[in-house]
Amino acid sequence: MRTYFDEIAEGYEELYKEEQLKKLRIIKDNLRIAPEDLMLDVGCGPGFVAEVFDCRIIGLDPSEELLKKCSFETIRCEAEDIPFPDNHFDVVISVTSIHNFDNYKTGLLEIKRVGKDRFAFTVLKNSKKFNDIKDFIEKNFSVKKTIDEKIDLILICA
Ligand SMILES: C[S@@+](CC[C@H](N)C(=O)[O-])C[C@H]1O[C@@H](n2cnc3c(N)ncnc32)[C@H](O)[C@@H]1O
Repeated sequence: MRTYFDEIAEGYEELYKEEQLKKLRIIKDNLRIAPEDLMLDVGCGPGFVAEVFDCRIIGLDPSEELLKKCSFETIRCEAEDIPFPDNHFDVVISVTSIHNFDNYKTGLLEIKRVGKDRFAFTVLKNSKKFNDIKDFIEKNFSVKKTIDEKIDLILICA
């Protein structure tokens, strides 16, 4: 099934690349990540993550058109049902994507299940679900730092 993000995939990079790279650089500055670490990017979109991190990366996203733009291994699926075993990833990140999940609670619990101990989330501040998502992250992850970025709140969990 084509998604909204499939429809806007062509112009996505021009519209959002710079602001998304800024958030990824903030995550990099605040989370300890080694080159041998395996990272999962949930809702990876066109794969900007690979321009900032030099660790091993797997991306997941439901948008086939955005995934075509990624330069690393990807899986077309949703956060609510992640096809990996428990504790598989050293680091899991999700950048401006959680408010798009059909069920953010299930998605976040899946992220927790497949991750080990390092997570980073950026949550769109003007989403109607912002407060609920932030509360759920605070209840279910060890948030060590929150960073107020212009458009998103960044939560570093370790
Ligand atoms: C605003 S974009 C952010 C993309 C990317 N993280 C970035 O920084 O450019 C939101 C992304 O969430 C993805 N998405 C929507 N529903 C999703 C779900 N249930 N699970 C995972 N990703 C989802 C969309 O396909 C889209 O790529």
